Amino acid sequence: MDPYLSAKWLHILSSTVLFGTGIGTAFQMVFAVHSGNIQAIHSTAKGVVLADWLFTTPAGIVQPATGLWLIWLQGYALTESWLLLSYGLYIVAFCCWAPVVHLQLKIRNLTKDAPSMPPEAEKAFKIWMMLGWPAFAALVMVFWLMVHKPTLWG
Ligand code: HEM
Repeated sequence: MDPYLSAKWLHILSSTVLFGTGIGTAFQMVFAVHSGNIQAIHSTAKGVVLADWLFTTPAGIVQPATGLWLIWLQGYALTESWLLLSYGLYIVAFCCWAPVVHLQLKIRNLTKDAPSMPPEAEKAFKIWMMLGWPAFAALVMVFWLMVHKPTLWG
């Protein structure tokens, strides 16, 4: 098997898991919160926390690891402009995702056996949504940079 094609296959596969889990869990969470059904909100938050450990965390590790492998196999400089911007955007996405994990746990715990949505969980959900957008935008831009590989400066 060609190592380049294997690395690229893994890299693209993990990007779909990373991005797809993000969009999928966000959609489910918004849908559950808007239903106003506290049991549905709790159960969805539980599933979202699990999905993040099962899918997002491993994909988030595989992504830069296979990316570095591709850089090495292709002989790119680590400091190519499109790569530098991608690292920055990936860090932005990570910095948004890290507090999101904490907020999801909070929503899950606060909604357990609650009669209705506690205000603290409502607030956590609002921040959770606000952090989701820049992470989404950052990954969309990384996809663009990965496909186009533009020379941005220098
Ligand atoms: C975080 C560090 C990352 C590094 C170091 C990295 C590195 C690379 C490199 C070097 C290639 C080019 C392979 C080639 O020349 O054939 C590539 C391709 C690709 N990357 Fe990344 N990547 C990273 C993150 C991401 C992320 C976060 C995504 C999307 C969520 C992504 C999606 C893609 C896709 C779809 C391709 C295939 C594009 C193509 O070559 O036609 N990468 N990546």
